[in-house]
Amino acid sequence: MTHLMSTKARPLLGEVTVPGDKSISHRALIMATMAIGQSRISGLLEGEDVINTARAMSAMGADISHAANGDWLVHGVGVGGLCQPETALDMGNSGTGARLIIGLVSTSPMNTTFIGDRSLSSRPMRRVTEPLTKFGAEFHGADDMTLPLTVSGIVDPCPIDYQVPVASAQVKSAILLAALNTPGKTTVIETTPTRDHTERLFRHFEVPIEITARQGATAITVTGHPELVAHDMTIPADPSSAAFPVIAAIITPGSDITLKNIGINPARTGLYSTLKDMGADIHFINQRLECGEAVADIRVKHGPLRGITVPEDRAASMIDEYPVLAVAASFADGDSVMRGIGELLVKESDRIAAMVAGLRACGVLVSEHDDGMTITGQTTVTGGAKITPSLDHRIAMSFLILGMATDRPVEIDDGRVIETSFPGFTTLMNELGAKIGANA
Ligand code: S3P
Repeated sequence: MTHLMSTKARPLLGEVTVPGDKSISHRALIMATMAIGQSRISGLLEGEDVINTARAMSAMGADISHAANGDWLVHGVGVGGLCQPETALDMGNSGTGARLIIGLVSTSPMNTTFIGDRSLSSRPMRRVTEPLTKFGAEFHGADDMTLPLTVSGIVDPCPIDYQVPVASAQVKSAILLAALNTPGKTTVIETTPTRDHTERLFRHFEVPIEITARQGATAITVTGHPELVAHDMTIPADPSSAAFPVIAAIITPGSDITLKNIGINPARTGLYSTLKDMGADIHFINQRLECGEAVADIRVKHGPLRGITVPEDRAASMIDEYPVLAVAASFADGDSVMRGIGELLVKESDRIAAMVAGLRACGVLVSEHDDGMTITGQTTVTGGAKITPSLDHRIAMSFLILGMATDRPVEIDDGRVIETSFPGFTTLMNELGAKIGANA
C-alpha cells in the first residue's frame, strides 16, 4: 500500500502527454496476436492492466518484444492459431482485459482459466458468458459467474445474432472477438452507442465488418475466419486519463495547460462536452486522424463552473469520468445532477458509493440516488479526509485531484492501484504544479 497526500496546488502550467489509451491498447495487442506477421505498436499504455493482456497473449503463443525506441513488436499467431495457456491467465484488476479475452478464447478449442484480484473477482461476467454460450462455449466457475472462471472453447462455433442488453463496449467487443474464429456472419446489435475502438481496429486490420442502422439501433456484422495480416498501430493518449489534469486545471486558480495527442473519438468525449456545458474554457486544437481514431491537443484554463443536469444519453461516452466530474461539480455554482449511471455500481468498485462517501467526508453536500448522485457545489471545500480507494484507480486519482483545491489535504491509503491505468500520474501532476506525495 502506498499512502499519498495531495495538498493545495500551485497554478498548473505547461504541456504534457498522458499515457496511451487503455481501451485501444488492450485491443491493439489482441488484434496483433490474431494477425500473421509482425505488428509494431507505438504509444501502448504500459499500465498493469495492459501488461496483463500482453502476458495473456504471450501465454497463448504471441511473440511480444520491445523495439529500441520503446515501441512494442507483436508476432501474431493468426485467427485459429491460439494455443492453450499452461497456467491460468491472471487479469489483475482489468475488467476489459478479462471480458475481451474471455470472448476471444471462447471460440478456440481449448480450456482457459481466468483469475483476477479481489476487485475483478467480484465483477459480473455473466454479461459475457451468456452470449458466448450461444456460440457453443461452456463456462465452469461459481454459480454467479465471477472469476475464477474456466472457459471451454468450442471446436465448431455457430455464428449468433445478439442484442446487447446493457450499454457495454466490453460485451460488444467480446462477441466481435469471438466472431473472428467463427464461420459465417455474427451480428451484434447495440441500442446505446458505446466506444467503437474494436470496430475501428477491425477496419484497420481489414476484417470484413458492416455497420448499419437498424430500427434506431446499430447492427455490427462480422464475417468470421478472416486472414488477418499484421498492421502497425499508433495509439492516442487516453482521454479518460487526460480528464484528471483537465479537471485539476479547471479547479486550480491561474492554471493554463495543454495535453498532447488525446483521443477524441466521439464515443469517449462526453466529459469534455459536459465541462463545456458547465462553462469550462476547453479547446480541442490541431485535430487530426491517426489509425482511424480522431486525435487533438486539448488546451484548458482555470475558470468558474456552473452545475448542470448531465444528459443521461451521454453516460456511455463518459462512463469512466463520473468520479472526476463529481470532483469538478464540488466546486461548481449550484447543483450537478448525474443520473442513469447504474453501471457505476459494477466498475472496479461501486463508484457512486465511493464518491458519495468520500466527498461527504471532505465536506461536500451530496445526495445519493439508485442510479446516480446530485452534488451541490461550494466555493470552498474543506477536504481533510483519508480515503480508501478499494482497488479502484479512478477513485484514487479523483480524490488526489480534489485535494489540489481543498482547504486541507486529502489522503488516499493506496496509491499503488493508479499503476493499472496511469503510470507516472504523480510525477506528471507534480510537474504541472500539483503537490502530491507521501508527505506532500
Ligand atoms: C471499456 C468499456 C467500459 C469502460 C471500461 C473500458 C472498454 O466498460 O468502463 O473502462 O475498453 O471496452 P463497459 O463495457 O463495462 O461499459
